[in-house]
Amino acid sequence: MRILGIESSCDETAAAVVEQAQGRPAILSSIVASQLSTHGKYGGVVPELASREHLRAIVPVVREALDRSGVALRDLSAIAATVGPGLVGSLLVGLTYAKSLSFATGVPLIAVNHIEGHIHAVVLEHPAIEFPALALVVSGGHTHLFEVQPGFRYRLLGKTRDDAAGEAFDKVAKLLGFGYPGGPVIDRLAPYGNPAAVRFTFAKMKGNALDFSFSGLKTAVLRWVEAHDMESEIAARVALRRERPAPTTEEWLTRTPPRTLDLLASFQHAVVNELLTRAAACAEQIEARSLIVSGGVACNAGLRAAAGAAGLPYPVYFPTPGLSTDNAAMIAAAAFPKLERGEFAGFETAAQAGLALA
Ligand code: KG4
Ligand code: ZN
Repeated sequence: MRILGIESSCDETAAAVVEQAQGRPAILSSIVASQLSTHGKYGGVVPELASREHLRAIVPVVREALDRSGVALRDLSAIAATVGPGLVGSLLVGLTYAKSLSFATGVPLIAVNHIEGHIHAVVLEHPAIEFPALALVVSGGHTHLFEVQPGFRYRLLGKTRDDAAGEAFDKVAKLLGFGYPGGPVIDRLAPYGNPAAVRFTFAKMKGNALDFSFSGLKTAVLRWVEAHDMESEIAARVALRRERPAPTTEEWLTRTPPRTLDLLASFQHAVVNELLTRAAACAEQIEARSLIVSGGVACNAGLRAAAGAAGLPYPVYFPTPGLSTDNAAMIAAAAFPKLERGEFAGFETAAQAGLALA
């Protein structure tokens, strides 16, 4: 069985061919065209520009994924596309292209939820995960905890009430002049600071104790910045980004004083701690036999190290970094159980910006 996956929910146009034999998936090709250079200067994803870039990229990206896999369109078992959640104008490009390929070839169409894709990025590399699993999906748009039962049935246990964890990284980085996306830069600089230098506290949650909230932390960072006269160093970093689109760690370090490195380390420590504490509480509640962490923030080295050092009584699985951020191999992987169940999508299937997984 071979599935072509297509992903276009946000700012990456991606296509991949994944093969499954005896329950073992293998990535035959995976192409990701990033729009970072388009959105970077605006400090975040601009929806209109994103759909325009997807339109430009979709045909060559799919063609390259097919070429590299050596699989012809007619030999595919299915074509899977992300149906939501995401930016509706972006989703439409990938979904519509998948529908036209399906219509032209007769290969069935499968609609995949983007969040389910992130979970399958882990399953791709660890097909024998232990159920029930707890999935922590942490990206620029989501911070969700799901129970995963055999057959990939999901139950939502907690989510963010305001900002997603990745969004908190992005907003703090933008505030400090590091540009977009913020997660990778903060991750690279955090080891140079003291994570215990600035104490951030999280408000106790009313209602569902497993929900997250990151807007208070973002405001606390803003107050700290206002109280510490940081205008000139922020201006120096903004100037650096104008000179060089992707500064190196050394270049950032020359423009980031120790006090700011301490702030970054403390901020990252607070986010990591919050994610792991709630995930561990949740895993205990459902008697999880494994923990899956996925989504862009799963690239974070501090989060990976802390999860490894936490001494959790079950295995913790992260995707390799290339599969943590948006890609299409995870979309194809998520489609295999649907193919086995004959869960195909009709041509009337609409993109759903706010699609929920459970
Ligand atoms: O999964 P993803 O590629 O797209 C969404 O579905 O949102 O995640 C992108 C998010 C961004 O917010 C980015 O700052 C964050 O993941 N991210 C990171 C790291 N790499 C990417 N956050 C923390 N540490 C990282 N190393
Ligand atoms: Zn994503």
